Amino acid sequence: MRFLPFTLFLFSSYSLVKAGTLNKGDSCNIGDNRLQAGTYQFWSECNSQTYCGSSGKCETRGCRKDDFPFGYAPDDKLPEKCPKGQFCPDEEDQCQQIQPVGSDCQLNRDDQCEGPPNFKELADTSGRGLNVNGSVCLNSKCMWANATLGVACIVENTPYTAYGVDGEFIDIVSRGNCQLGLYCDAAQKVCMAEKLFGEACTADKECSSWNCLGSGVCGVSESIPHHFAIWVYIVVGLGIFGGMFGTLFGLYWTHRKQRDEEREKRMQYWREQNAFHQNLLAMRETARASILSLPGNGNSSARSTLYSRDGAFSDDVSAPILPNAAPKVSGLRHYLADDGSSEFDDGLMMQSGKKVDGRF
Ligand SMILES: *[C@@H]1O[C@H](CO)[C@@H](O)[C@H](O)[C@H]1NC(C)=O
Ligand SMILES: *[C@@H]1O[C@H](CO)[C@@H](O)[C@H](O)[C@H]1NC(C)=O
Repeated sequence: MRFLPFTLFLFSSYSLVKAGTLNKGDSCNIGDNRLQAGTYQFWSECNSQTYCGSSGKCETRGCRKDDFPFGYAPDDKLPEKCPKGQFCPDEEDQCQQIQPVGSDCQLNRDDQCEGPPNFKELADTSGRGLNVNGSVCLNSKCMWANATLGVACIVENTPYTAYGVDGEFIDIVSRGNCQLGLYCDAAQKVCMAEKLFGEACTADKECSSWNCLGSGVCGVSESIPHHFAIWVYIVVGLGIFGGMFGTLFGLYWTHRKQRDEEREKRMQYWREQNAFHQNLLAMRETARASILSLPGNGNSSARSTLYSRDGAFSDDVSAPILPNAAPKVSGLRHYLADDGSSEFDDGLMMQSGKKVDGRF
């Protein structure tokens, strides 16, 4: 019964499309009332809010059998459902009294039949629709679902047209009047015990699980939830955490690589600037040496003061500037920005810790 919900849905849409078209007051032929082929849905010429009355005209429905009937707008006033002890027939013209055993009833309308005195033990509460309140409508007659094991029973087979992945197929629904836990065997017409998981079967009704597998044995019920083995949870959990930490470490490695590249670029820049600076100093040194070597420019005190700053720079240069010498690096930055400022020079002189004037 794997496709049952799907087929039921198709039945519903089918019946909605195929509802009659006549409106209230239009003439209709009551003889055209019928059950639709394949779906066994009741059909009349009248639309979904009316029924074909005995007067031969479509009249407003007097009751409904569904909680949410087709063909009504959300704010439409719905006909009432019937009270307990009554039922609304397929025509939905008016409520009727529940019928005693042996009376006529409509297809699959177990609810039209009166329950047995021992309805409490016979009633099917499994949701499989074996009976309603212990009574069942078979071959259009009301009876009780009270036949016991090995006793003759009545069976009704209804071939529905169902729609599956491979197209149309016939789905035979077989119903009987056996008690709960038994089924009416179609060939021998006697009640038999329902089969348990793994036993051979030919129809769903034979299995207590209501699921006869294609392999011909009773399977587990389709209505019970599927449980996964513990290792599935472990694998899924590992997958989730693996994905999370994989992403995390992937990003970490990428960023670390980028950081290293950036650092290398800055280092390169620093080295270039430093080399450039060294060149400048060397040029100044050369220039001073050439000026000093000029005759008459020997030991002028004014010059001496002027060059004392240069002396400070020379002193600094004489100390090797290494990339990993942190204070020197920051000193270099100031140096580049504030070349020639006396403030900086003083700082640098203090840093070098030597008496510059003493050199001259
Ligand atoms: C079931 O049937 C019994 C006997 O006819 C009746 O008294 C009882 O109200 C019914 N219960 C329901 C839920 O219809
Ligand atoms: C079983 O139900 C039928 C009606 O379907 C009734 O005539 C018969 O008396 C019931 N048998 C028992 C034992 O209740």
